[in-house]
Amino acid sequence: KEAPPCTLVIFGITGNLARIKLVPALYALYVKGFLPETRIVGFARRPWDDATLKRTMEEALKGQTLYREDRAASFLTTMTYHQATFDDPEGYRTLASRLLPGGEVIFYLATPPQNYPEIIEGLGEAGLSSFEGKPVRLVIEKPFGRDLESAGELNRLIRRWFGEEQIFRIDHYLGKETVQNLLSFRFGNGIFEPVLNNRYVDHIQITVAEKIGVEGRANYYEQAGALRDMVQNHLLQILALTMMEPPLRFEAEAIRDEKVKVLRALAPPQPREVVRAQYTAGVLDGAFVPGYREEPGVDPSSTTETFVALRTEVRTWRWTGVPVYLRTGKRLARKVSEVSIHFRRVPHTFFWEAPLEPGENVLVVRIQPDEGMSLRVNVKRPGYRMDLRPAWLEFDYERSFAEDLPEAYERLLLDALIGDAVLYTRADEVEASWSFVDEVRRGWEEAGVPIHEYAPGSAGPREARYLLSREGRRWRIL
Ligand code: BG6
Repeated sequence: KEAPPCTLVIFGITGNLARIKLVPALYALYVKGFLPETRIVGFARRPWDDATLKRTMEEALKGQTLYREDRAASFLTTMTYHQATFDDPEGYRTLASRLLPGGEVIFYLATPPQNYPEIIEGLGEAGLSSFEGKPVRLVIEKPFGRDLESAGELNRLIRRWFGEEQIFRIDHYLGKETVQNLLSFRFGNGIFEPVLNNRYVDHIQITVAEKIGVEGRANYYEQAGALRDMVQNHLLQILALTMMEPPLRFEAEAIRDEKVKVLRALAPPQPREVVRAQYTAGVLDGAFVPGYREEPGVDPSSTTETFVALRTEVRTWRWTGVPVYLRTGKRLARKVSEVSIHFRRVPHTFFWEAPLEPGENVLVVRIQPDEGMSLRVNVKRPGYRMDLRPAWLEFDYERSFAEDLPEAYERLLLDALIGDAVLYTRADEVEASWSFVDEVRRGWEEAGVPIHEYAPGSAGPREARYLLSREGRRWRIL
């Protein structure tokens, strides 16, 4: 489905996100023919003009696989630059003249979050919550608040001018093909749903590991840490899709109704069920890398965590009693994200010839890289004895499909232009996940949960291993 005639106004077009993600994604959509009549207006403070904008974006597009000079030139004709400070009412008044008459209007907030309130107010005061009588849409980047209170405040401010149906809160993990596949594999197949519950599942693991460090984002990261940066949004969204009940329909409200129930049912971990840590200096891929506290812009005595692991439970009829272990961190051994569902072992084993007990069945959804799914089963090893060994049933995107996996932002931007909010988060979801994250933080502050260390390129601190091993379990990867 292609985008309707529309204007997309990107606030903060001069920033990193626009250059690295948004504009390349728009270019890809344009080249593939999804944006037949789209105007892109960059709104920012810097004294740029159209030519500076086009030059900068042309550079940003050069590394893209779809890059071609003539296509890029044609794409760049859709872009113009609107210079104004975010607190200047005049900037919003004059913006109206750049909007495509008769088209839809989408405002994309890609600025630092401290600018969100003034932009929302600026738009609201200028009467831009609608254009030619039609409601506009507002796309808002993360972080959406830094705790329940600030997220609630931002939601209230938005509601002064905009209806919830106008708001598209981004979590770019929802744009990943494999994250969406959580829904298709669960609800498009009859064989998994009957066993996805506390009668058959022993526990669930969700890992989102990164190899990069803070990469010049120290200012933001110092205030955030892994819990706010990754768990509040990406990990909890993955958890919600893995554990939600079937929605009534495949549409935004029905799906979000089910996700929010899961988020509200999360049990905060005990202090001993949370592990926090920071990476130290060391050698990664043959090169020296500084420790977190030595990164430029980081307080040398910082206690911000770059790694967090925790145990939680979804207290619902279906899931009570099933531990869910979440783990994320920077500077780990490799970039890998996956969900693994570990099933209970067989109740009784009579393979008395086998030296090993049959292992657990595990269903793995590989989010990135090597996107796909695997199911671990026990099979007979060839030979004269009844000897069982684990084997994997595999599905691999690359081998099964000729199509490339689209970038998360391509899908998300197109959905916002079309007005489909299935892959965007709703106010109550965001608030429910902040409420959980706040409780985790309160717990660790009250109990003084220590900050451990881990070497770059490792699997994180050993305490994260103990989190599982003391319950007789182990992490599947890293
Ligand atoms: C962002 C975080 O939301 O996600 C970053 O702010 C993180 O810290 C990034 O690096 C990871 O995204 P991806 O798509 O590379 O897994």
